[in-house]
Parts: sequence; C-alpha cells; structure tokens
Amino acid sequence: MKSYQFVGLCGSLRKNSVHEQILNTIAEELMPSDASLKLKKLHDVPPYNEDQDGASTPDAVRELRQAVLTASGIVIGCPEYNHGMSGVLKNALDWLSRPHGKSVLTAKPVLIFTASPAFTGGVRAQQQLYETLWAVSAELTRYPQIVIGSVHSKLSNGRLVDESVRNYVRSGLEALRGTIRP
Ligand SMILES: Cc1cc2nc3c(=O)[nH]c(=O)nc-3n(C[C@H](O)[C@H](O)[C@H](O)COP(=O)(O)O)c2cc1C
Repeated sequence: MKSYQFVGLCGSLRKNSVHEQILNTIAEELMPSDASLKLKKLHDVPPYNEDQDGASTPDAVRELRQAVLTASGIVIGCPEYNHGMSGVLKNALDWLSRPHGKSVLTAKPVLIFTASPAFTGGVRAQQQLYETLWAVSAELTRYPQIVIGSVHSKLSNGRLVDESVRNYVRSGLEALRGTIRP
C-alpha cells in the first residue's frame, strides 16, 4: 500500500468521458511513486436536497464523504458545460460542502484539470471551480491551471498519450503531493 491515497472525482458520467480517461491515466501511470489514486464514481449521488441532508443522508453521499474524508487529497477532472463546471460535479461539491463549517473538503489538498475538444480546454469552468472550492476552504494546489485543449488529439486507446501534457500533469500531481504536511 502506498503512503498517500488520493481520490479522483470525474465531473462527467458518460462512458467514454475524456476526463475519466485522463483520471485513469493518472491513476495508472502518472501518480508520484508514494501515492495512489482511486476514482470515486458520482453516478449514484442524487440531486442535492437539504431535507435529506442529516439523519437521512443518502448512502451514496455518506460513502462519498467518507472517501474524501480519509483521502490524502483529491484530483478533480471536470468538463466545461456552457462555460461553467458540470452540474454533476457542482452537485457533488454541494453535498461535500455540508454540514456547514464541517465540510470534508476543508483544508483538503485539491488539484483540478479541465479538458475539451475546443482549444480553450474548459478554462472557463476552472474559475467557477476555484470559487466553489474556495467557499469550502479546500487547499488549492498552487500550480498553473491544467487546461487540456484539443483533447482528442492527446488521447489514444483510453489513455492520455501526449508527452508534454503528461509531464505537465505529472508535475501538477507532484505539487499536489507537496501540499501534504508530514
Ligand atoms: C451540455 C454541454 C455543454 C458543453 N459546453 C461546452 C463549453 O462551454 N465549452 C467547451 O469547451 N465544451 C463544451 N462542451 C463539450 C465538452 O467539452 C465535451 O463534450 C467533453 O468531451 C465533455 O467531457 P467528457 O468527455 O469528460 O464527458 C459541452 C458539452 C455538453 C454536453
């Protein structure tokens, strides 16, 4: 078992998600040598409902919160939908933000990336993501934004293969790892 276990969250639910392909590449090929990454799927997380947030918190949400609580840090890959983050991810972050003042994301090291077929690479979603992560006092990794444009030309057989992007992501993961205090 590696010293540090990270959790990956994917803001896309679709089968051939490019973000999931990149998260899988990270998990299998790009993590720092003393760290692992496991994807926590968001498919079963229901729409946020404050009436269900308490004694009747859905099981999928309890599991998600527990996974984030025990993780050394989080890697988020999220598509840009209409210039913002996907509703799937915002919804998960809203669940993870509660109870107010006791969010499992508070002080949690987080690295984010976006990718898109467009040359803009989902960059407009990043601002919104930072804003929401800031609201819950997550520890944002100090690293230049990881924005992967023209993403399909950088993937092959379900893996991120572009060498310069792989190196850039790998360095971002090292920066994330570096935020963890011994
Ligand atoms: C509802 C919707 C809105 C989208 N809006 C944007 C957008 O604003 N900017 C962009 O670059 N791509 C946009 N796209 C294209 C996505 O970047 C593309 O589908 C991407 O592959 C989604 O990530 P995934 O493969 O991980 O699902 C949009 C796609 C959908 C379905």
